[in-house]
Amino acid sequence: MSKPLKIGLVGTGSIAHAHLPAFKQFPGRVQITAVCDIRQQAADRFAELAGTDVVFTDFERMLKEADIDAVDICTVHNQHRHQVIAAAEAGKHILLEKPMGITLDECREMLKATDAAGITYMIAQCLRYLPNSQWVRQRIIEGEFGDIWALRSDNFASMVPPKSKIDTDKSTGPGIWYLDGKQAGGGALISQSTHHIDLFRYYIGDISRVTATSWTDHPFFINGAEESIAATMEFENGAVAQVLSSWASRTPWNHHYWLLGELGSVTSRLMPGSSPAEQYIGPLDVSLPRFDDDKSSRAFVPLDIADTDLPTHLPFVNEILHFADCCQSGAEPLSSGTDNLGTMKAVLGIYESAKTGQPVSLADI
Ligand SMILES: NC(=O)c1ccc[n+]([C@@H]2O[C@H](COP(=O)([O-])OP(=O)(O)OC[C@H]3O[C@@H](n4cnc5c(N)ncnc54)[C@H](O)[C@@H]3O)[C@@H](O)[C@H]2O)c1
Repeated sequence: MSKPLKIGLVGTGSIAHAHLPAFKQFPGRVQITAVCDIRQQAADRFAELAGTDVVFTDFERMLKEADIDAVDICTVHNQHRHQVIAAAEAGKHILLEKPMGITLDECREMLKATDAAGITYMIAQCLRYLPNSQWVRQRIIEGEFGDIWALRSDNFASMVPPKSKIDTDKSTGPGIWYLDGKQAGGGALISQSTHHIDLFRYYIGDISRVTATSWTDHPFFINGAEESIAATMEFENGAVAQVLSSWASRTPWNHHYWLLGELGSVTSRLMPGSSPAEQYIGPLDVSLPRFDDDKSSRAFVPLDIADTDLPTHLPFVNEILHFADCCQSGAEPLSSGTDNLGTMKAVLGIYESAKTGQPVSLADI
């Protein structure tokens, strides 16, 4: 068996804690041997949890000094470009949290640097590593749902108080980077809906054209981050998807999708009171009517997680183990940077369309 992959994790905020179980449960495969965060205390706390005392507050120093084969980048979106390029130049394999970047130029620069370095470059599109998702994709390939003609994605959260309830003269806003277009590259769409957009591409292939409208009049969304957005995506295979995202939705946190095929459908089940993470990975209901049996023709049944080759039911654990396998074997990751350009084109094309009011052909951007 090969030695564990030695990883330097940068950005010890919320998602880093979701990555931690992979390292705890599979120490023979992956180890955190260094930790970095610009916030020293957060880095120290996380390093203790991860079982290392090698801590940095400067990413470039970690690249130079730490004993690492790879980096796991869990930072704010506008830090991704320079961290990916620096890690590639240092010859380290890279696992990068979504979204790859905040402009297409950035994404292309990252791909140029990672290709030139010949390292493994994988985007942590966690939904691809859910047993549910891999089961659905396999059934699509086998034709069980027939031709997929429509998909729908709803991503809602109530991240800000209603505009009428805040005193805009006194309030400076919550100061969350997710609401700042300069740091996040947008609002609800880039941070949340990127997951479903990527999942839909995984299910049925590339997107050719997008059209969108967005709304933002809440003062807490700054530097171009949108409050709400509605988009239509046309796929190369003829299917159409609707995407609705809002961070001022006055709903509980919600991720929900539909996939409609000629012979069957899939819907992700909403679980009242569940955490955001539980909703991402929550159960699916599947309808595969048997037309020789009237009674079952419209029944939804909970998906019985069938045989996938994934090592666990946890997407983050599966994705990190897949990353380690790819680094060690040289295989192309399922969610490689190269593949992910298609997801970023859709996300950033939707923003372009919302800005211009015109459809955007993804071949042109
Ligand atoms: N896969 C998912 O389901 C999922 C869920 C949440 C977030 N994310 C992604 O994970 C990434 C991080 O999000 P988060 O919610 O953990 O954010 P967060 O704010 O909780 O954590 C970000 C951390 O990065 C640190 N940081 C920022 N700039 C840095 C730099 N230059 N060098 C070192 N450290 C730096 C911050 O101090 C902070 O500790 C984002 O790309 C986000 O979109 C993915």
